[in-house]
Amino acid sequence: MPPKLVSHARIMTIERHILEEQKIHPEATGTLTNLLYDLALAGKFIASNTTRGGLAEILGETNEVNIQGERVMKLDQLADQTIYRMNDHTGRLAAMASEEHEGLLPIPERYQTGKYVLLYDPLDGSSNIETNTSIGTIFSIYRRISDSGPGTMEDCLQPGRNLVVAGYLLYGVSTMLVYSSGSGVFGFTLDPDIGEFLLTNDNIQIPKKPKYYSVNHGYQKYWGESMVRYTQYLQGLDGQIPPLSLRYAGSLVADFHRNLLEGGVFYYPADHKDPQKPSGKLRLLYEAAPLAFIASQAGGYASDGHQNILDIVPTSLHQRTPLFIGNRTLVEKAEEFIRQYGI
Ligand code: AHG
Ligand code: MN
Ligand code: MN
Repeated sequence: MPPKLVSHARIMTIERHILEEQKIHPEATGTLTNLLYDLALAGKFIASNTTRGGLAEILGETNEVNIQGERVMKLDQLADQTIYRMNDHTGRLAAMASEEHEGLLPIPERYQTGKYVLLYDPLDGSSNIETNTSIGTIFSIYRRISDSGPGTMEDCLQPGRNLVVAGYLLYGVSTMLVYSSGSGVFGFTLDPDIGEFLLTNDNIQIPKKPKYYSVNHGYQKYWGESMVRYTQYLQGLDGQIPPLSLRYAGSLVADFHRNLLEGGVFYYPADHKDPQKPSGKLRLLYEAAPLAFIASQAGGYASDGHQNILDIVPTSLHQRTPLFIGNRTLVEKAEEFIRQYGI
């Protein structure tokens, strides 16, 4: 007689899950499976350091300024190095690129190169570190375009449409890993006692009825008419829909994750705040494209206000883009307002 269990849910570790996913693809060599497993491991390492934060005296700013012109937090560097060092010697990658570095991150010559490239935002929402609010890591994996040898810029500048895997880690009340390899979206929660990610959110689909909208209202002064009207629409002020609740953490991963599970829209529009950044703040390759891939796998949609984020062909590693992401109806409504009133 099997033991009586309170729940019949499968206990599925991330390792078992990615191995089972691999079986769907008979041509798979296991490289991608191992790569994902390495990222889960990097996530555990980063999570253990973020939770220890102040205790380990690793909170606070360094004196460096990154390529985006922002102050680099120590945890940004730690997360950045963890991911790089976990992946530079495995023979699975041709190159990497990180939000924290201007150019490509090559694989050291002494190691073999592989068939994928990895692009990542090591720590997303780093302004929240000091206040113990959720932060995250975002990753993207593409198949290389070049044949062999060191990875090239062309390998990294691919549209989101070409993504093989995209995912994120969320360091919040608990640590979660959410990923998609193109056949649904799966969420795992880290059990800190056994050190394993267990499947908690099987085949995530954005609820049809949205609950939230997420935007930095403080910047309304810099918005064009379309965004003012769109926001009024989401607040139910023009009478088209009942008002949605506002939630904005200032960590894209946390804001996106909430809306993925509860339904809603996150937007960081183009604005007039900084003439150097006419496309808003978010980065196409490290933030918008991977989350757009996950949103579309969960039945949602992401747009820059004019076109599907997944169709944008990047021209540089750190290119920024306006982002509208979440329930399809709400994102399409943003496109409609922009068509009518401009940005
Ligand atoms: P990062 O910490 O990787 O630089 O990203 C921060 C981003 C994103 O997480 C968030 O949605 C956005 O910055 C918040 O910006 P505002 O403070 O301008 O609203
Ligand atoms: Mn970020
Ligand atoms: Mn970052």
